[in-house]
Parts: sequence; C-alpha cells; structure tokens
Amino acid sequence: MMSSIAEELESIDREARAALAEATEEGQLESWWQQYLGRRGRLTQVLRSLPSLPLEERRQVGARANALKEALQTAYEERRAHLERVRLAREVAQAQLDVSLPGRPLPVGRLHPITQTLRDILACFQSMGFQVVEGPEVEWDYYNFEALLIPKDHPARDMWATLWVDYERDGERPMLLRTHTSPNQVRYMERHQPPIRIVSPGRCYRYEATDPTHEWMLTQVEVLAVDEGISMADLKGTLADFARRIFGAERQVRFRCEYYPFVEPGMDVLIDCFQCRGEGCRTCGYTGWIEILGSGMVHPQILANVGYDPERYTGFAAGLGVERIAMLRHGIDDIRLFYQNDLRFLEQF
Ligand code: DAH
Repeated sequence: MMSSIAEELESIDREARAALAEATEEGQLESWWQQYLGRRGRLTQVLRSLPSLPLEERRQVGARANALKEALQTAYEERRAHLERVRLAREVAQAQLDVSLPGRPLPVGRLHPITQTLRDILACFQSMGFQVVEGPEVEWDYYNFEALLIPKDHPARDMWATLWVDYERDGERPMLLRTHTSPNQVRYMERHQPPIRIVSPGRCYRYEATDPTHEWMLTQVEVLAVDEGISMADLKGTLADFARRIFGAERQVRFRCEYYPFVEPGMDVLIDCFQCRGEGCRTCGYTGWIEILGSGMVHPQILANVGYDPERYTGFAAGLGVERIAMLRHGIDDIRLFYQNDLRFLEQF
C-alpha cells in the first residue's frame, strides 16, 4: 500500500513536470492544471485518500504529497509567467506592441480651488507671525452676536441672516450656525493673554437665497492682533501687505469707513481693480475699486469684557471671504460654481 502511493506520487511528479514543459498555450496550461491539481486531478485524489492510511504512513506520504502540491503549483505559475514573457517578446519583435509608447493616463486628484486659496491666505499671515486656530461651526448666539456687541433686537443682526439650531426658550441658550468667524476672536481672547496674533479659518452659514454672489455656505478667515500699542498703522500695513501678496505687488490699497458693531472705527479694505487698472469694468462694478475684506480696531468694550485693560491693550481685526478672493483671483463670476462638484469647472484649477 505504502509503496504504491509513494510510487504514484513519484510518477505524478515526473509526468506532470514533463507535461508542463510541453504546454505552450493557455488551453494546454488550463487542462494540465485540471489534470493534476484540479478537483479531480491525480494529486488531489492522492491527498483525498490520505485519511484512510495508518498514522505513520499518513504522516510521511502526506508531507510528500503536500510538498509536491506546492512545488507543482509554483512550477505552473512560473511556466505561465515564462510563456507570457515569450509572448510579449514576440509581439515586440513583430512590432505589434510598442512598449515605448506612453501608458494610459491615470486621473489624478487635486485640491479644491477654495482650499488652494485658503492655504495661500493662511500662509501669507503665518509668514507674518500669525497662528492658525479654529472654532466650532455650531455656535452659541452669545459668541456669534452678544459678545460681539450685537444684542438681541439690535438692527445690526440684519447684517447676518441666521440659520438657527435652537431658539431661545425656557432659559436655554439659543444656538445657531455661525454666520461669520468673528466669534473666534472672543473665544480665543477668553483663554489667552496678549500678545495675540491669530488667523481663524472656517465655514460659515447664512439663511440666504443663492445668486451669483451669495451662497448659504461660505468660507471665512478671521484675523486678530491684540497687544500693547497696536494702532491703525499696524492694521493698514498688515492688510495692505496681504492684499499685495495675493493680488500683485503693484496694488493700490484704500480704506473706507464701514460699520461693524465689534470694531471702532470699522473699515472696508479695497484694492484698485486689476482688470481695468481703475478705468471701470464689470469686475469692479465700474468704480475702479474692489472690496476685499472688512476690518477695524477691536472695540474697547470687547477687550474689557474678556478681562483685558483697554487702556493698556489695543487690537485690530479683519474678516475676509475666501470664495470672494478666489473669484477675484481666477475671474470666476458665479460663487455657486464652487459647490456644484462639476469636474469641468474644478479641473481648471
Ligand atoms: N464678520 C464680518 C462679516 O462677516 C466681517 C468682519 C468685518 C470681520 C470687520 C472683522 C471685522 O473682524 O473687523 O461680515
């Protein structure tokens, strides 16, 4: 019994290897595999008969059979790879296949245009010593409005159409989706002492109908510097430098009074139109100037509320819309394009 199974294994070994060396085509390889290693293959049958053998014999024959199975499987794969190389070499030789042609291009992803512009903006401020900090998108009414000197029923609330999460009721604190990144000014000052230089990026939400210049979701960057002796000169120098780094070193910068409840004085920053160089065109609304952000000197009441001495410390703040900056930079005339996920648009950046 023992010798016959052992002999069968040896003849399988010999015959299988000889037959494999003869196989030159896919079909032959396939039937070779069926004949020896397949479900009804010769070697498979030997392996199946093992459990009926006495223990000692089963051990020896089993080890040999399993080793042979692995060896034949490897030989099969090597033969197949060898035939494939031969086939390719033949095709190359017959010039049916030109391996020097470029391969099929793989689609490569890229950063969203808003992410690209956001990173440029942050890098600009970081190089001036500002640190990046983030805050929550779901915010208390307190930080979004109250702490920024916009009390309940104050007309300035109309500047920000709000998406509410929870109205005020039963003494619960009202909660909302932040309408701007300005709440991070207060959040940061509550936990830190001057000197402060931060930029705070993030998404903001507004209860607004969309049109070419309005989205219900937008990205802002808040800027805040508080220290002894910070003046309008620091505000102007910092923001003018920012504007020139993003829109070109030759930009003219203008500051125009504007009301924001949390700064005094408040102002918008404008640059001369890079499209028409001040002549007047669609981009600048025929004024020659383009508004790029809001800013001002931090209201002394806000400094006092977070426990700073407003006689000792002063600061400036600014807030800018990343979509607006990206639109101006790339000449995009509809903000809604950013979030429609149309590759024909996104692949241009
Ligand atoms: N938070 C304002 C807005 O969303 C923008 C702004 C204006 C931010 C003036 C500031 C600032 O920090 O000083 O419209």
